[in-house]
Amino acid sequence: MARVMFMRTAAVHRALISPVWWAHSSGARAQRMRTFSALMSPPSKAVVYDQEGSPDSVTRVVEVPPVEVKEKDVCVRMLAAPINPSDINRIQGVYPVRPPVPAVGGYEGVGEVHSVGPAVTGLSPGDWVIPFPPSIGTWQSYIVKEQSVWHKVDKETPPEYAATVIVNPLTALRMLEDFVTLNSGDSIVQNGATSIVGQCITQIAKFRGIHSINIIRDRPGSDEAKEMLKRLGADEVFTESQLEVKNLKSLLTNVPEPALGFNCVGGNSASMVLKFLRQGGTMVTYGGMSKKPVTVSTSSFIFKELSLRGFWLQKWLTSEKSKESKEMIDYLLCLAREGKLKYEMELVPFDNFHTALDKALGKLGSQPKQVLKF
Ligand SMILES: NC(=O)c1ccc[n+]([C@@H]2O[C@H](COP(=O)([O-])OP(=O)(O)OC[C@H]3O[C@@H](n4cnc5c(N)ncnc54)[C@H](OP(=O)(O)O)[C@@H]3O)[C@@H](O)[C@H]2O)c1
Repeated sequence: MARVMFMRTAAVHRALISPVWWAHSSGARAQRMRTFSALMSPPSKAVVYDQEGSPDSVTRVVEVPPVEVKEKDVCVRMLAAPINPSDINRIQGVYPVRPPVPAVGGYEGVGEVHSVGPAVTGLSPGDWVIPFPPSIGTWQSYIVKEQSVWHKVDKETPPEYAATVIVNPLTALRMLEDFVTLNSGDSIVQNGATSIVGQCITQIAKFRGIHSINIIRDRPGSDEAKEMLKRLGADEVFTESQLEVKNLKSLLTNVPEPALGFNCVGGNSASMVLKFLRQGGTMVTYGGMSKKPVTVSTSSFIFKELSLRGFWLQKWLTSEKSKESKEMIDYLLCLAREGKLKYEMELVPFDNFHTALDKALGKLGSQPKQVLKF
């Protein structure tokens, strides 16, 4: 019912914005006049920060007045948007690309088309879209942006998956493809395995017949986290304290030594990934959750010939390799619809933003990914 009403509203808006031309004869000269009644978005609520700093102190929820929906614009009513570590880093001012302040938080999400400008084709009210490439400002109930930045997604997709498909699942997919050629029967090792990227790596690896060795940190609930990862297809899951042994590789029974490792933690946890790698292996660093540096022994380079690489999705999205990224997104969403790609999330009403933020900041211990529901 609500959707039907949106469509009617949009139709009325379209009629209003259509230029009305009429000829008005006055003596010898005909005058043409054009009247406009601009199509406007509804008023909106947004999480804004006026200065960089600690996210819990610099962010506030504000009312945003209606804005014009121009010719090629699409007005989207947001349905869901996650709080990712990079969103927090942007607000803290420690991310390499930072929006000028004041800024609206958030970088990915999903919404329903509310109304479209008169030059928009291929998108109609009621369609579901994600901003692609992702862009800042998704923590806002209505967003108006040009049609070109929206990618239509299948409405059968659970909204929390559509909202989170780019930053983490696409990173997992690319990192499994872009560094080392893996064949069925090979293995990978990763830390931060409970992260969404980690959960996606485990599952995508499993589809491809690739074993995974997973490292998680010691914390309350680590037994449950191990079980969760095993259910997703993890072959081995260790807490960091279990790996304080002399011969770490003796812990592997039916899994071959990995040629590829992923690190999103740093510090000792990164050293454990390196220790698992086989001769000539590669470790890809994509995050630094512990805020500790990666340290590597001299012998790792000289005798073990390890390679250290890095991955940054935002850079990858501007590269030639990203040409087929929309197809990759559709593939990942298809896996999510079929229940083949799952990860833990908690949907939180947008009005409870600051509770969700506290959880995302780790103030309440380990928590599932916080996804704002508008
Ligand atoms: N380079 C890129 O392009 C790219 C793309 C996507 C993500 N990332 C990075 O990947 C990482 C994971 O992102 P995500 O969204 O998947 O994570 P997430 O789902 O929000 O989960 C956070 C993860 O970090 C762990 N963690 C939190 N604080 C930690 C600490 N102090 N020490 C060690 N581990 C800690 C958590 O472990 P527990 O379960 O034990 O709490 C959990 O595994 C982040 O660093 C993010 O910035 C990078």
